[in-house]
Amino acid sequence: MFRSTPLLLRRARALPRPSSATTLRPTARSISTIHPLRKDHREIKPGQFARTDPSITMEYPAEKDMPSSKPPWRYGQMSKSFSLEGKVAVVTGGAGGLGYVMTQALVEFGADAAIVDLNGEQAVESAKNLLEHFKSENPDAECLPKITAHTSDVSSPTSVRSTISEILAQHNSHIDVLVTSAGFTENFKAEEYPHDRMQKLWGVNVDGTYLSAVEVAKHMIERKRPGSMIFIGSMSGGIVNVPQPQAPYNASKAAVRHLASSLAVEWAPHRIRVNCISPGYMLTALTKKILDDNPDLKAKWTSLIPQGRMGNPEDLKGPVVFLASEASNYVTGADLRVDGGYTVI
Ligand SMILES: NC(=O)c1ccc[n+]([C@@H]2O[C@H](COP(=O)([O-])OP(=O)(O)OC[C@H]3O[C@@H](n4cnc5c(N)ncnc54)[C@H](O)[C@@H]3O)[C@@H](O)[C@H]2O)c1
Repeated sequence: MFRSTPLLLRRARALPRPSSATTLRPTARSISTIHPLRKDHREIKPGQFARTDPSITMEYPAEKDMPSSKPPWRYGQMSKSFSLEGKVAVVTGGAGGLGYVMTQALVEFGADAAIVDLNGEQAVESAKNLLEHFKSENPDAECLPKITAHTSDVSSPTSVRSTISEILAQHNSHIDVLVTSAGFTENFKAEEYPHDRMQKLWGVNVDGTYLSAVEVAKHMIERKRPGSMIFIGSMSGGIVNVPQPQAPYNASKAAVRHLASSLAVEWAPHRIRVNCISPGYMLTALTKKILDDNPDLKAKWTSLIPQGRMGNPEDLKGPVVFLASEASNYVTGADLRVDGGYTVI
């Protein structure tokens, strides 16, 4: 609990007269950077160095009324908070691209995983590859991660519903983490975008995120399990990419970002955290196709990125593990931009 005694700020009428001896009264909150003696011999007040106006004085509550200032954990325990051992992570679009690498990161940190993808064959192949990779990296591992593959169209409510039941049946009736990476982009001038294709785009990017989240949330709420959801948005949800025209994609990613904030608030009482990762330009199949079609584009894009390079899928490993794990227990409704600084200029 936070202290009940309010911090009292008040303006002193006059500065105290210098006293003959320095009366440094160490309070329990005083820290060693306080100089023991000042030239003018004035009494040093608690909190004095945290403000620029010396006429402000503060009265701190007694130590017994303050929250502990000592870190409660032993050294090394912080790293344990990143562990995903015992958790089951579902990754939509996990058969390829960013989803595949994020699944790898979650498995590396101890999670079991369920790969959900429209491309069922590739999902099976990817699950096998991840397991083989884990074995080669951990030849002495006592137990292996369980990695399952599920064919599903995230834009279809019935498909999502049956996929989540299938995952629960195969993973001991629990899901702890959801990452929604299924999504795609297309470049059309707005006035030429075929309506059916635009609906498909929104169906996968927006409905797909929403439907997956709701189905997993129902499970978490029913079983009273806390959980973490990470929606893969895009920096395009907050800026307008140039020069390629992609208005519906940008709008779809703005929707994904705001869904994360809205659902974070709605599900906070159920201990479900919902955050968004907004990647910048990453080198994957999705961007390769665009770059192959427009060879000059890579130079243009790179010139706009402060870090001077496109991102690698591996750049998402740390962010996704952080948000999936207990290390981010008090982070919800956030948008984590992983874009080499693109959106800050
Ligand atoms: N690559 C980038 O530069 C970049 C940047 C910002 C955001 N993103 C976002 O990251 C996510 C992943 O992008 P990527 O580059 O890895 O793309 P990708 O094409 O390499 O992978 C997307 C995966 O989603 C699957 N998928 C597509 N439609 C599906 C559906 N209806 N149901 C289930 N699965 C489906 C695909 O089969 C594929 O495996 C997308 O949401 C994308 O918008 C990508």
